[in-house]
Amino acid sequence: MEDSFLSKIQIRPMRMDDLEAIVEIDRKIFGKSRPDYWKKIVIPNDQYPFSSLVAELEGKVIGFIVGEVSGGKFGVPDTVGWLTTIGVDPDFQHRGVARKLSETFIQNLKSIGVSIIYTLVNWSDWDLLKFFRNMGFTRGGEMINLQLKISE
Ligand SMILES: CC(C)(COP(=O)(O)OP(=O)(O)OC[C@H]1O[C@@H](n2cnc3c(N)ncnc32)[C@H](O)[C@@H]1OP(=O)(O)O)[C@@H](O)C(=O)NCCC(=O)NCCS
Repeated sequence: MEDSFLSKIQIRPMRMDDLEAIVEIDRKIFGKSRPDYWKKIVIPNDQYPFSSLVAELEGKVIGFIVGEVSGGKFGVPDTVGWLTTIGVDPDFQHRGVARKLSETFIQNLKSIGVSIIYTLVNWSDWDLLKFFRNMGFTRGGEMINLQLKISE
């Protein structure tokens, strides 16, 4: 049953015209529409088109993953990938869509020479931590995040 559902899921590179569907998925997850935020995220990545992907079910976008290859950010080499965000339409969660997106994302980055993928998760977001753990992510050791609060 679930296998036949997953076999209908197509994973393809994200396009500009996916913006509306992604804004709607985000609204369903977080209860707020944020088109301006997503306009800055859903941009074509000409250099690495397979680092941001969507999951389609019969032509409808039901999930997305946004990532990038470091490109020298923070002085780290191009063998580092970043998983910026992932989301699946609540109507289709817990059916393996995010796993399929993540596995394709990881394979794509591996095929271009990326050897490690970083992501940031809020320590109190246990569901997301559990999801990433199930995807094989472990707590990082070499990099720490620093912060400076500059207003209340
Ligand atoms: C996290 C999220 C992407 C998972 O999507 P999904 O399609 O339901 O996940 P899958 O069905 O592919 O599950 C993959 C694995 O993660 C686990 N998992 C998925 N959702 C989980 C949850 N809410 N809590 C705990 N574990 C979870 C599953 O057990 C599964 O492991 P398994 O395959 O070994 O059984 C989805 O719940 C979501 O969009 N959440 C909100 C997004 C968000 O907060 N994004 C923040 C930016 S990073």
